[in-house]
Amino acid sequence: GGEAHVEDFAFSFEGPFGTYDQFQLQRGLQVFTEVCAACHGLKFVPLRTLADEGGPHYSEDEVRAYAEQNFEVYDEELEDFRPAKPSDNFPANTGAGAPDLSLMAKARAGFHGPYGLGINQFVKGIGGPEYIASLLAGYTGEEKEEAGTILYENHAFPGGWISMAPPLSDGLVEYADGHDNSVHHMAQDVSAFLMWTAEPKMMARKQAGFTGVLFLVILSVLLYLTNKRIWSPVK
Ligand code: HEM
Repeated sequence: GGEAHVEDFAFSFEGPFGTYDQFQLQRGLQVFTEVCAACHGLKFVPLRTLADEGGPHYSEDEVRAYAEQNFEVYDEELEDFRPAKPSDNFPANTGAGAPDLSLMAKARAGFHGPYGLGINQFVKGIGGPEYIASLLAGYTGEEKEEAGTILYENHAFPGGWISMAPPLSDGLVEYADGHDNSVHHMAQDVSAFLMWTAEPKMMARKQAGFTGVLFLVILSVLLYLTNKRIWSPVK
């Protein structure tokens, strides 16, 4: 047991100008597909968005091939299963008790303090992806059985014992781009990918925000100058 501990991972998408790393998202998708998808779904995520700019940004042909090769969906019209298409969503989870991961990066807070105010989030990042990465890298190797369920000790999980067996081990996923595949890196990559599934429009939102602030700054300068001019005869 003990205090849940969330490590502060440095993600490329943190801060007002942070952006997703397209290649990290691609590696994260690979980890999700080869490991997590065995138990977890991503039912709110349309497969076609894998081609979106600001995301993994695959070509449309690559997305079609990926969907077809990796997932089957039930087609109401065919009354049968068929290979997935870009117009389908990722399948829902089939594993017993494994929650859907579409929005998990925003459903969990990593940093609560100090005094539950969440002020650490300004400094360290919002914490959801850090929590997922810390969870995946946080197993101690201890396990116990409780009421017929095996529980695994984990530093990041509240309560300290989780029913998800450690899904990652060093070298488990052979990255297409040859990137370091230690547990730490795979955990960080899949967490970045899950941040993207939870907030796919983050980069567009930050850009719009910046444009808005810039506009207000220019407006303030113009109003200041206008004000001076209007009142200049009075002085
Ligand atoms: C729970 C992520 C692989 C089974 C979870 C949670 C996350 C997660 C974020 C939620 C923890 C919470 O409630 O705070 C992942 C990722 C995986 C992965 C990123 C791949 C790297 C797997 C696999 C299985 C599995 C392969 C099945 C063999 C479960 C179960 C739970 C769970 C049963 C519920 C645990 C509990 O509440 O005690 N997972 N998971 N997961 N996962 Fe996974």
